[in-house]
Order: sequence, then structure tokens, then C-alpha cells
Amino acid sequence: MEIISGFSKLSKKQKLAWLAAQIAERQSDTNQQEFIADFESYQHRDPKVQKLYDEFSENTLTNFYMPYGLVPNVLMNGKLYAIPLVIEESSVVAAAAGSAKFWLERGGFKAEVIDTKKVGQVHFLWEGDFKKIDVLFDELRELMLDNTALITANMRARGGGILDISLVNMTEVEPNYYQIKATFETCESMGANFINTCLEEFARTLKDWAANSEHFVGREKEPLVVMSILSNYTPECLVRAWVECPVNELGYFEEMPPEMFAYKFSKAIMIAKNDPHRATTHNKGIFNGIDALTLATGNDFRAIEACGHTYASRNGKYQSLTDCSIENGVFKFWIEIPMAVGTVGGLTSLHPLVKKSFEILGNPSVKELMELMAVIGLAQNFGALKSLTTTGIQKGHMKMHLLNILKHFEATENEVKQAVEHFKNNVVSFRSVRDLLDLVRIEQPIA
Ligand code: MEV
Repeated sequence: MEIISGFSKLSKKQKLAWLAAQIAERQSDTNQQEFIADFESYQHRDPKVQKLYDEFSENTLTNFYMPYGLVPNVLMNGKLYAIPLVIEESSVVAAAAGSAKFWLERGGFKAEVIDTKKVGQVHFLWEGDFKKIDVLFDELRELMLDNTALITANMRARGGGILDISLVNMTEVEPNYYQIKATFETCESMGANFINTCLEEFARTLKDWAANSEHFVGREKEPLVVMSILSNYTPECLVRAWVECPVNELGYFEEMPPEMFAYKFSKAIMIAKNDPHRATTHNKGIFNGIDALTLATGNDFRAIEACGHTYASRNGKYQSLTDCSIENGVFKFWIEIPMAVGTVGGLTSLHPLVKKSFEILGNPSVKELMELMAVIGLAQNFGALKSLTTTGIQKGHMKMHLLNILKHFEATENEVKQAVEHFKNNVVSFRSVRDLLDLVRIEQPIA
């Protein structure tokens, strides 16, 4: 690849032509026209919609397709939902659908939002006596609230806004280091822009206030703002979801009695509580569901994942985000997870399929969406642990693997049926599938 300046100024056609030429330089058999046509074939047929997609990001060449699946039969708080999931990994949607059906017959999922507070910080250095700024902080807080009054007017009208502003002394960590820590209620929006705009106003107010205060002299008049930014760690924007039923109603899992299933399940949780290697995979499975719903609803999956992993470490060790108990013959399984999402703003009203996702979900409130996120994470984790502690994970995966290999060999419907039956008791591999198809095709040649 060669260095290029002004790439962003090129038209999409020019960008693709440049890239095709670069690839051809590396791979001499590249057909540049075909290379470009391949990219162009994923463009949306409606130029207006394509423009919308292009403008979500920068230097866009085309669209990247991902499967958009649906998990029906999700009963949450007595209401039935179908949950859209955008994910490339096979078995995730199937596992969530299996769990949804399983719990549908056992009272469904329950969920509740514990709190919805978000956090932002202005990090600054200040050379002075902490007691002095601490005593004067009420005055600064009032000024910050006044100076952000216009920014917060709409949010306040909707019942949100700035909840609290405090001064945090961080000088034990680093000399002269302080924070202004603020908490916010951002109602139906994720609130990143709102919070960051408020924080930058706080920073300006801090500098003006210090410069003009008669109480300060010399360097005290010059706080150095390092940065102003929301925190994606939102432990007070928290949701809980759970399922429960008498152990004997869990039913048999193949040959395994419900008591043994509940016991092994609880040990799987114990392992994920104690071993970070297992906890990481365990939580990854939870995020298989949460990320997929986050994408389908145009929310920020990086923020939600980062926050979830920090929360999983809140006790000083990385642990499972789910927990379970077996008490008085009742099996209970739950998740508690921070969930900073929005139902307005960002992509939510722009991306055509995000709008459809909200329609499918019945245009949920932000609290309802938080609950659905926790439920899909819990459902996903239940499905994974159910497989892991009974048949093993490969059984389901191998079925998908088998179907993919069959697709590769362009198997007919009848051949697929025979192969699925055959591989219930045989090991799936590319070669074994090919051998079986050879045999079937000799016996029943394709017309
Ligand atoms: C695979 O994407 C997710 C699992 O590994 C999760 C788990 O092990 O709990 C199946």
C-alpha cells in the first residue's frame, strides 16, 4: 500500500479505483473492474438510503452485511416479545430462541431497572489548597448549573438533566489532580452528546470562575483542564433480570435428571465466579445476545461491553455477570448488568433497520429496552450453560457446521435430511460429509 493524502476528499468511485489499483499492484491477477463491481454490488439500490449509510461514518466504500435474525416467544414481565438480533455467529439466535421457549413454559423472564444514572468527569490539575476550593465549590456548582441551563432545558422538561456535581480530590493518586464528577439523567437518550456538552461547559466555567475569583491568587487562578468526557462505566445505570422455577419443573435434559442439571449448572456459575479464564468466555456468551440486540437497536455495543466488563471486575476480580441459587427446591438464575442505552438520538431514528427493530419491539421505553437487553443476555447464557453442562457445545455447533458444508456441496433437501440423520451418530468433517454425499448420489443420482 502506498501513502495517500487527501483520501477523504476523493469520491467513492475514486476511492475504490485507488484501492483496486493498490490491490492489483500486490496481486497481479486482480481484475480491477471486478474488484470495484464487487464492492458496488453491496450498495443500496436507493441512492438516498445509500447516502444515509455513507454519512454514518467516513471514507465509506460500501455496506457490510450482517445477518438480522429474530428470537420469538420471549416472555418478559408478562408481555410477549420477538427480539431482533444482528450477529454473524451461528447458533446464537438458535440458543436464545431455545431458552426463550424453555422459559416461556415456566413463567417467562422477569426484569426491573434499578437505576438510570450516567456519569461524566472533568479532569483537571490545580495548584492550591484543596480546603480552599472545597469550601468554595458550592458557588462553582451553582455557576455550572446556571451556565448549562440552556443546554439542559429540553432534558429538564422531559424529567432529566444534571442530578449532581461534586468535586473529587485525587491528589493521593497524583499531585494537584482533581475531578468534577457529575451525574445525569438522560431519559430516553443514551446521552453521550448531552453529557459531553455539559462537561465542556463545566470546564469553561471552572476556568473563568478561577481566573476571576477574588479568593485565588497566582497559580490558583489557572486550573489546567486535561479533558472533559462522559464515563462509559455506569454502575448506577443498572438492570436486573431473572428466571425461576421449582427444580423438578426444569425437566429432563436427554438422560439427565433436573436435580443433576441444576447442580451442574450451579457449579458452572461457581467456576465462572472464581476463574477469570472461564468468566471471560461465560461473559462473552452473555454479550453474544446483548451486542446483537444493541446492534439491532443502533446502540453503542463498545460502550455497553466495556462497561459490562468493568462491572464484572467490581469486586477486585473479573467474575461472571450471572448468578444462580438453588434454595428450598427452587432454581433461580439472574443477571445484574449496567446498561446505558437510548431509544432516541444517534442511529435510532436514522437507520432504516434500527427503526424496524424498534417497531418489532413495540417501541419500548428506555427502561424496557434495558430490561430486554438483560433478558437476552440471560437467555443466551442459559442456552450456553445448558448445552455445556448436558450435551456439550459441539453438538449444536456441529449441526450448523454440517449445514454449512452441505451448502458448500449444494446438497438437495433430501440429501440434507439424510445427512442430518446420519450425522446424529457420526463425526462431522468436511471429508465425512463429502463421502456420504458421494454415496447418496451414487444410489440416488441428482436428476
Ligand atoms: C460462544 O460464542 C459462546 C460460548 O463459548 C459461551 C460459554 O462458553 O458460556 C458458548
